[in-house]
Amino acid sequence: MDLKTAICQRRSIRGFTDRPVERETLRQVLTLAGRAVSAVNAQPWEFAVVTGTALDAIRREYMERLERNDPGGLPLLRYGEGIFRERRVAVGKQLFAAMGIAREDTEKRRWWSSRGYRFFDAPAVILLMMDETADDYTCRLDMGCVVQNLCLAAMEHGLGTCVAYQAVHYPDTLRRRLPCAEGKRFVCGVAIGYPDERFPANAVVTDRADVDSITSWYGFDT
Ligand SMILES: Cc1cc2nc3c(=O)[nH]c(=O)nc-3n(C[C@H](O)[C@H](O)[C@H](O)COP(=O)(O)O)c2cc1C
Repeated sequence: MDLKTAICQRRSIRGFTDRPVERETLRQVLTLAGRAVSAVNAQPWEFAVVTGTALDAIRREYMERLERNDPGGLPLLRYGEGIFRERRVAVGKQLFAAMGIAREDTEKRRWWSSRGYRFFDAPAVILLMMDETADDYTCRLDMGCVVQNLCLAAMEHGLGTCVAYQAVHYPDTLRRRLPCAEGKRFVCGVAIGYPDERFPANAVVTDRADVDSITSWYGFDT
């Protein structure tokens, strides 16, 4: 798959088949992802790859906590203003329309939201961590670089991904169940698996701002 195709065809996949993903495949994806740029080549990322009964146990605990409205330990995302809010609302509308979920159907909306906390029932999840001491602004930027690489590298193997902040909503659950997380900060998770082509939300193509509306050019006058 060429780069342009991968970049243009990647979209968030929120419905997966039951087909397991082989460890070696995930290893190859992560190896490629790790070629990402990072400030001073610090490579602040570490991965916890979880599947099978280990993932089931985390999923179960997440659902129990969600059920009793446990708020979790992470700050809520703030996209409450202006254009960012508009974009957030727009993608929500696209997804709800694809899934046939009406605005007033609070039960279905709740169900939809809970899917993110169950890693969209993906056969595997990759949790991205960085060292608690690696708190520079650039380290966070580096994590974004590696996660985008990961999503693109997965496509080479026919795998779909959804980056999800929801996946790290209960870091204490993760820390208790994943000994590698000692002294690490969870940044986000990536649900990964083979896309269920019949899952309606997987067909949603989100908008992007026109390049001319976000770019200023200088010194190009002829
Ligand atoms: C850092 C980050 C966190 C995200 N968290 C979630 C999430 O918790 N739940 C979810 O459904 N999608 C999540 N997404 C996916 C975005 O909603 C999605 O990338 C965006 O709407 C653009 O759509 P596309 O990926 O299909 O191009 C996240 C993406 C990023 C980069």
